[in-house]
Amino acid sequence: MIIPGSGSQALAAALAEATGEALATPTYDRFPDGEQLAAVPDFAGDSATIVCSTTGDEAWVELLQLQDAVREAGATEITTVIPYMGYARQDQAFKQGQPVSARAMARAVSTGTDRVVLVNPHEPDVADCYDVPVDHVDAAGVLAAPLPALDDPLFLAPDESAVGLAETVSEAYGAGDTDYFEKHRDRDTGAVEIEPSDATVQGRDVVVVDDIIATGSTMSEAIGVLEARDADRLFAACVHPMLVRNAATKLRNAGVERIVGTDTVERECSCVSVAAAVADAL
Ligand code: R5P
Repeated sequence: MIIPGSGSQALAAALAEATGEALATPTYDRFPDGEQLAAVPDFAGDSATIVCSTTGDEAWVELLQLQDAVREAGATEITTVIPYMGYARQDQAFKQGQPVSARAMARAVSTGTDRVVLVNPHEPDVADCYDVPVDHVDAAGVLAAPLPALDDPLFLAPDESAVGLAETVSEAYGAGDTDYFEKHRDRDTGAVEIEPSDATVQGRDVVVVDDIIATGSTMSEAIGVLEARDADRLFAACVHPMLVRNAATKLRNAGVERIVGTDTVERECSCVSVAAAVADAL
């Protein structure tokens, strides 16, 4: 049975469709003091696949409760799909006294599951933080489908670590060059500086590809540089469209024609599903 977290209901339904598994109808309640109570009253069977993006602290609590609820209801095999894993970027103590938050969350999740499936985690090494087997799904290729016909396309990563994603989208699109910018982020202020690559962008359609758009600082800096260098149409593509606060507006004002994201985070721009790729991993 597929068990959706409250923020992953569309993806869980698509996954139920792709796998032929039944879709449970959890309830997501709260006690008067604010404590959460996620439950799965219609759970039946031995095997549970929980699908829960951890986009915030509440989602982490919900995930742990869903794991415990299905175990209590008789599940003997639990798979936890975390389409977007929050805290994955705090995968080391960057300053004295900081936690490795990714490890803390992964350990908690590991206590309630037999295996974990992650979709394009920020760093693949985050798998080492779990105490159960972890499978990775690379779903970046789906980002090519919603793109329009592009003129002399360039698929650009805002930093070197995302160049593999840009290559995957370019390959799935079936044309285009790939390149990356050098990115520097001030760890105290969060301010992002992008240094232009050598690629020619003038008159070309450019798709900037990243794993996540959070505040939109990285993407809007990259778009600003491309605008200044007379690129033609500009698209922002990411697997995880977190788009916190005014990120979407920042991108529009920077000159983005369209934001393309997947349903690992359910937002207005989540126009393609990772369900088929996740189904393959189950
Ligand atoms: C960082 O290395 C990631 O790949 C993203 O570029 C970054 O997390 C995006 O965050 P923001 O939108 O806040 O700049």
